Amino acid sequence: MSFSTFANATDLDTWKKLEAAYEQSGKDLSVKELFASDAERFSKFSHTFKNYDGSEILFDFSKNIIDEKILSLLLDLAKEAKIETLRDALFAGEKVNFTEDRAVYHVALRNQSNKVMKVDGIDVTPEVNRVLDHMKEFSESVRSGAWTGYTGKSIKSIVNIGIGGSDLGPVMVTEALKHYAQRDLSVYFVSNIDGTHIAETLRSVDPETTLFLIASKTFTTAETCTNANTAKSWFLEAAKDPAHIAKHFVALSTNAAEVSKFGIDTKNMFEFENWVGGRYSVWSAIGLSVILYIGYDNFEKFLKGAEAMDKHFSSTSLESNIPVLGGLLSVWYNNFFGAQTHLVAPFDQYMHRFPAYLQQLSMESNGKSVNRANGKVNYSTGAILFGEPATNSQHSFFQLVHQGTKLIPADFILAAQSHNPVEGNLHQRMLASNFFAQAEALMVGKTPEQVKAEGNPESLVPHKVFSGNRPTTNILCQKITPATLGALIVYYEHFTFTEGAIWNINSYDQFGVELGKVLAKSIGAQLNDKTPVTNHDGSTNGLINQFKAWSE
Ligand code: F6P
Repeated sequence: MSFSTFANATDLDTWKKLEAAYEQSGKDLSVKELFASDAERFSKFSHTFKNYDGSEILFDFSKNIIDEKILSLLLDLAKEAKIETLRDALFAGEKVNFTEDRAVYHVALRNQSNKVMKVDGIDVTPEVNRVLDHMKEFSESVRSGAWTGYTGKSIKSIVNIGIGGSDLGPVMVTEALKHYAQRDLSVYFVSNIDGTHIAETLRSVDPETTLFLIASKTFTTAETCTNANTAKSWFLEAAKDPAHIAKHFVALSTNAAEVSKFGIDTKNMFEFENWVGGRYSVWSAIGLSVILYIGYDNFEKFLKGAEAMDKHFSSTSLESNIPVLGGLLSVWYNNFFGAQTHLVAPFDQYMHRFPAYLQQLSMESNGKSVNRANGKVNYSTGAILFGEPATNSQHSFFQLVHQGTKLIPADFILAAQSHNPVEGNLHQRMLASNFFAQAEALMVGKTPEQVKAEGNPESLVPHKVFSGNRPTTNILCQKITPATLGALIVYYEHFTFTEGAIWNINSYDQFGVELGKVLAKSIGAQLNDKTPVTNHDGSTNGLINQFKAWSE
């Protein structure tokens, strides 16, 4: 069942009203003037999220190009698109991913309050808890040194081999929560099929003290299987006896048959179900590297923070629903202003992989052009998400954000408290001042009069003008804790859901990644000998044949 009550969003009455409102006033709204005329604008357009542990996150939407009329129309659009019905179906374990006939139930992985959550009439909570218990017990034994390798030494290095959702989530979270790590354990992530990735990693570790986590939902992904086999050969060169694999290789997967074919004892397999999409899997067994690194108690806090945002999203009216507001703003810019991109810039070095993580979440989910009624959409969908930590990005691509020809809606994220308040917190104050200044500069800009008043020659004036009115959403956390990070990720999950619900696309399949994989397989076979190929287009034949000549 596709849950589709309309074909294209352009068919909705409110969409047409929004088009008219954009033309009448929306496109000319000046955020600077809106602030000048409304002393309450900040409090009207900002929302504080309260986490389960009492910590808070302030989501300030007030620097966006909206007024009350536009916001009210966007909320009507959400109602007309029946996003609450789709949301409730998702939380009820229904098969929202209709093209693959699957439930989309990552929310059940952070069901820390142990509600009954059913898929196909069966409560999945006991199984989710069983796997969590298994991860807890295993991680405690590795972290304490009780789990030993084939020569009796305890584990010092964890190597997670996976790609896509089986890599990006664990990489991002272990980096973001490094402050909480057990520092005598090192974690490495191998994802790329480029042999350099595994080779360089293996140079840094010792077979006697290394634990490999083979992370793959399907356990058939070419890159992961190839890297895992290379790691196994490397390990056996030292350990010799395949019986030792049991102490050094575990699997995080849904596919027990392939895991056991690989040679991993299924006792050392941490399972999850096919209702967990790859890009939503960091909450599942795929999070084992995170647990090993930061400890089970911290992972539990991460899940609880995520659950708190789930509760907010599933029970708050649309008007104050933070992820819904974020997603609606994205639709506003994407479809009415014609924005193509979405910048996410964490002012936080620990969060340096957050934009890369969000790229898969957003672009694999909403990079679709067919609606839930199986027709072509007639509007732009998924934004091109990009980002890097600020302040670094201020010294690279922010020029284009400030003065380029494109409108680039941006999210800035800052934690008030640093985990590293060095030099009497000087660094943190400088970081924070940039967070505030960038958003303010993008909004207020600089007029020609101001530039002239600075004494600039006439010819330079246009070059030094900043148009302003460039929108930002400012997300201010208290501290990047496991609970805060959990909630932040889930904010973006439900933001992505909201966009997909309005665009009426299936945000939960990813057929677009298949064609290239299939072609790579057949071309791979053609690279095994020197015979020139002729069966592709001229360019592909030319490139393959040149590669064959040069790779001798
Ligand atoms: O190629 C895309 C994809 O299917 C992602 O959705 C997924 O996260 C990744 O590959 C890895 O898949 P697996 O965990 O099955 O190895």
